[in-house]
Amino acid sequence: MKVLVIGSGGREHAICMKLKDSPLVSDLFACPGNAGIEGLAKLTDIKPMEFEKIYDFSRKEGIDLVFVAPDDPLAGGLVNYLEERGINAFGPRAEAAIIEGSKAFSKAFMKRHNIPTADYEEFTDVNKAIEYIKMRNKYPAVIKADGLALGKGVIIAEDEKDAISALHEMMECKVFGDAGSKVIIEEYLTGREVTVLAFTDGETIYPMPSSQDHKKAFDYDKGPNTGGMGAFSPAIGYTKGAERETLEKIIFPTIKGLKEEGRKFKGVIYFGLMVTDKGVKVIEYNARFGDPETEAILPLLKTDLMEIILAIMNDNLASINIEWESKIGFCVIVASGTYPGKVIKGFPISIGDLDKRITLFHCGTAKKDGKLVTNGGRVLCLSTVSNSMDEARELVYSEINKISFEGARYRTDIGKK
Ligand code: AMP
Ligand code: GLY
Repeated sequence: MKVLVIGSGGREHAICMKLKDSPLVSDLFACPGNAGIEGLAKLTDIKPMEFEKIYDFSRKEGIDLVFVAPDDPLAGGLVNYLEERGINAFGPRAEAAIIEGSKAFSKAFMKRHNIPTADYEEFTDVNKAIEYIKMRNKYPAVIKADGLALGKGVIIAEDEKDAISALHEMMECKVFGDAGSKVIIEEYLTGREVTVLAFTDGETIYPMPSSQDHKKAFDYDKGPNTGGMGAFSPAIGYTKGAERETLEKIIFPTIKGLKEEGRKFKGVIYFGLMVTDKGVKVIEYNARFGDPETEAILPLLKTDLMEIILAIMNDNLASINIEWESKIGFCVIVASGTYPGKVIKGFPISIGDLDKRITLFHCGTAKKDGKLVTNGGRVLCLSTVSNSMDEARELVYSEINKISFEGARYRTDIGKK
């Protein structure tokens, strides 16, 4: 099969690596891809939101399947667009991807189906939101932009001043564009954060090993939220009991609820969970593989990824068996110095001779005059599969300084807590 992967991050690099391994895949293309993906796939300079160009390219190249990995084209309906024109596409249609595309939708959906999540209110009027935050007078307060905001649309306000300024920034200054026209103000949950990704054809659901992301920019969960600075799998503190509860109260009702509402979800669904002392609650849904969770999890997958994708496309996920290595998947991101703020791109990258047990995924890289340069906030991701967390940590952190570019920065505490 000829497969086109949409996206350009570490997640897409990890997906491409798995697809390249599949005997079912003859040719791999990426749109737009990055300098790491270039070794595996033919790159095109089409952007993920250029639906018509993606369609034309797919027709011209005879693409058998388009794998849509990022949030924007999923929420924007690329899968619908391609399917309606006779091109097979992997990922949820827009009516299902809305569970990520609109937090107001996903909160109301959870309420309708009795799925545990933080209590919330939604606002489109900044003055009403401010009035509510003052009246509520409980901190930290969680303020979320309704729409997609590159993983940065959540502000945990420590006091009234922070909260009001976040509301002004989102709703009036539109720092996240239209994504902040509507906001959610919700209860602050405490506990352990766990990510559960799952394959689903809309009926059958196969959870992958659990994982833990590290959203904050700096060590010990300090600083602003990022797309994620490192991850490991399986998550710590996700007990068998919590797993059972999550399946029963969250995963099954979500898939069933979506189907009942005519939003059958086919693809990879992401459950961002908080294991609290009052049970497991949903922090967020995503409609795709997480990044960087994928760079920690996919290396553990033993089954052919393409076989799983085909089973989902053919509505017979129940007919296959999915196997994983029972080891630790672990990864750390090397980011640009000013990430998650505005970043300068184009710094030359040098990479020393890395230990063979490290897989280096490219997140934001490009080639300029034949040389590797930075091309985004998250730049590279060092990943390994180990027998223990200590072994994984030791290896990755002993190799990470072989990566250098101006301002390169990483968290030193992944897997420590
Ligand atoms: P989200 O984009 O919704 O995953 O939020 C980003 C991060 O903000 C999460 O990974 C959590 O660390 C944090 N967060 C979001 N919602 C809550 C909440 N209700 N209580 C505590 N932390 C939260
Ligand atoms: N790592 C969080 C996300 O992919 O949204």
